[in-house]
Amino acid sequence: METLRFDIQARDFSGAGAASRALKQHLKRIGAESDAVRRAMIAAYEAEMNVVIHADGGVLEATVAEHQVDVDVTDGGPGIPDVPAAMREGFSTASAEARALGFGAGLGLPNIARNSDRLRVTSAGPNVHSLAARDDRYSAYQYNVLLWNFSGSSVPVELVLKDVPGRLTAKPIVLDAATPSNDEITRLRPESSFDLKPDQPTVRASLEPYGVRFWSFEKH
Ligand SMILES: Nc1ncnc2c1ncn2[C@@H]1O[C@H](COP(=O)(O)OP(=O)(O)O)[C@@H](O)[C@H]1O
Ligand SMILES: [Mg+2]
Repeated sequence: METLRFDIQARDFSGAGAASRALKQHLKRIGAESDAVRRAMIAAYEAEMNVVIHADGGVLEATVAEHQVDVDVTDGGPGIPDVPAAMREGFSTASAEARALGFGAGLGLPNIARNSDRLRVTSAGPNVHSLAARDDRYSAYQYNVLLWNFSGSSVPVELVLKDVPGRLTAKPIVLDAATPSNDEITRLRPESSFDLKPDQPTVRASLEPYGVRFWSFEKH
């Protein structure tokens, strides 16, 4: 098993693809099957180009074992605010400059998924901060999550709870900072509560610009 590491230069459209090309050369040299080389190349190239187009440089690291190639592409931001949306065919936020060069069809991530056995996309949205707290003294506020959006654009969020202890009732509260009233009760706007099943512990919501949202989860 060996690990190869290549830097991906920021916004370098002309030299772009060098890291995935180097990986391809290496796989050919060690005699990998041509179909495997092709699949690894497509997946690595799309991930590399995403760093060039959407981020500011990063690293491609490939671990090559006898029957497996793991390609890890990381960058330092700005991150993907909505990963499920980014995974959809045709979804793209590519700049006009990138589009003029023929990028931005929104097919990269789906293409990676098609050409690999496993794809994991993770992103730490740098604009959304969160706080989770547990307090066993109050059943109504035993599990609590607070999210706030430190940016001027709205951000879709997906909250996935792990190891949920049975059915929970979620009670959302929105902090309405735009209201002219100074009254706390007016500023804290409760929304309809809903049930969360242990097998579908996902909450989707949208955070308004500079918006704050709070959920408490109560056990049934
Ligand atoms: N490394 C990344 N950093 C930030 N955003 C990314 C990154 N990779 C993908 N994205 C986001 O996911 C979207 C979809 O990516 P992709 O399917 O490759 O399409 P395209 O690159 O043509 O836009 C991008 O438009 C961008 O919004
Ligand atoms: Mg792409």
